[in-house]
Amino acid sequence: MNVDTVSSESLRSAMVDQLAADHAAKGLTLRPEVEAALRTVPRELFTPGLPLEKAYENEAVLKKMRGDEAISSVSAPFLIAEMLGQAADALDGLAGRNALEIGSGGYNASLLRELVGSAGSVTTVDIDPEVTERAVACLAAAGYDDVTVVCADAEHPVLSGRSYDLIIVTVGSWDIPPAWRDQLTDGGVLVVPLRMFGITKSYALRRHGDRLVSVSHRQCGFVSVQGDGAHEVRYVDIAEGVHLRLDEGQQIDPAVLDGLLTTPREEAWAGLSLPPRTALIDLNLWLATHLTRETGTFVVLTAQKTAIDAGVVAPSWQFGTPATLRDSTLAYRSALRWTDRRFDLGAYAHGADAAAAAGRMVEHMRAWVDAGSPPPVLHVLPAHTPDGDLPDGAVLDKRHSRVVLTFTTEEKGTP
Ligand SMILES: C[S@@+](CC[C@H](N)C(=O)[O-])C[C@H]1O[C@@H](n2cnc3c(N)ncnc32)[C@H](O)[C@@H]1O
Repeated sequence: MNVDTVSSESLRSAMVDQLAADHAAKGLTLRPEVEAALRTVPRELFTPGLPLEKAYENEAVLKKMRGDEAISSVSAPFLIAEMLGQAADALDGLAGRNALEIGSGGYNASLLRELVGSAGSVTTVDIDPEVTERAVACLAAAGYDDVTVVCADAEHPVLSGRSYDLIIVTVGSWDIPPAWRDQLTDGGVLVVPLRMFGITKSYALRRHGDRLVSVSHRQCGFVSVQGDGAHEVRYVDIAEGVHLRLDEGQQIDPAVLDGLLTTPREEAWAGLSLPPRTALIDLNLWLATHLTRETGTFVVLTAQKTAIDAGVVAPSWQFGTPATLRDSTLAYRSALRWTDRRFDLGAYAHGADAAAAAGRMVEHMRAWVDAGSPPPVLHVLPAHTPDGDLPDGAVLDKRHSRVVLTFTTEEKGTP
C-alpha cells in the first residue's frame, strides 16, 4: 500500500464516520450497506485535478458553470448518502435491483453499482456529452465499466422498453415527467429533488399504477434540470442583499416592494417554548400551503449574510424563508427567539397591514405544532386527473402532473 492509498483510505474513513454522526444527529440511520459502499468507492477518482483532501470534504464539487449558475457538479456526499438511504429504505434494500440514475458524474453510479450487486444493473443518463464522456472515463478508472452511460434528455424515456425498480434523480426538478413514472415497475421508487412552492426537498415516491405517493423526504439543494423540463426561477431584489425567489409565471408588483423593508417592522410570536431538537423541517411547506390558500401569494425570501448582519432582515433561514406578499404588506418567518435553551417561532412584517399579517402567519405556525408537527405526504397524479379523483389536500398544478400535499403525522406508502 503506498502513501496515497493510505491517505485516501483514511480520509474516506473519516468522511464516512462524519456522515454516520451527521445522520445520527438528524435522527437518521446510515444503512450498513450504504456505509459500506461509501467506504469502498474512492471519490477522488471522480474529481480528477482536485487535491485529495478536497475530494473528501462533505461538499459538492462544481464541474461546470453557465454564467453565475452551476449546471453540473459531483454531488455532496451527505446528499448522496441520504438519497441512497431513502431509496434503500423504500425498497427494503437495493441488492438485485435495476437502477436508473438521472444526472451523471460517476460517483453516485459507482455507489449504486456496489449496492445493486452483480444481480442488479445501473444505467446513468446525462444531457451533457462532456459529463457522460467524463463519467465513462472515471467509471473505467475506478473499475466500474459495467455501468451503462447514456447521453440524452431524461425528460423522455431513456432506453426503450427498459423499466427500473429505482430511478434516482440527481438534478433539481420542478415537475415529474410521465417518462419517469412509466419507466418504473409498479411498486418501484422514484427519488427526486422536487421544488414545490419554491422549496426543494428530496422525496422518495412509490409508484401505484398511474400515481406516485411519497414515503420519505429530506432537505436538499441541487443544480436545476436542463432541456425540455427546464423551469425558470427568478429573483426580485427588494433591498441590498435581500431577494424574493419566484417560480416561473409568478407575478408580483415590484412597485409595492420599493423601500418596504425600511418601513417599521411589526412582529408576532407564537408563545411556544420548544426544546432545541424540535424538528422544523416540515413547517415551511405547511406555511406554504396555508398561506397560499389565505393570501394567494406565497414567496420565498433569501438574504445575504451582509443584509442579515446589517439588520435589514432577520429570516428563519438565509437560503429560503417562507414569506407572503398581500397588497403592500410583506410578512416572513423570523429567526427563532431563544430564551433559557428553549425557542419560540415568530414572524416579522412590513407594510400597511403588518401587525395583522405577522399575527396570521404565527397562527399557522401554532396550528402546525398543535397538529403534532405533521410532515407533508405528496401524491403525484397525471395532469388530466379530474378534481373528484384527487385526494383531499393542497393541489399544485404542474405541466405534467397534479401534485397534492396532505399533512399527516404518519407518512404512508399507500394511496
Ligand atoms: C448534480 S449533477 C449530477 C451528479 C452525479 N449524479 C454525481 O454522481 O455526483 C446534475 C447533472 O444533471 C444533468 N442534467 C440536467 N438536466 C438533465 C436532463 N434533462 N437530463 C439528463 N441530465 C440532466 C447535468 O448535466 C448535470 O451533470
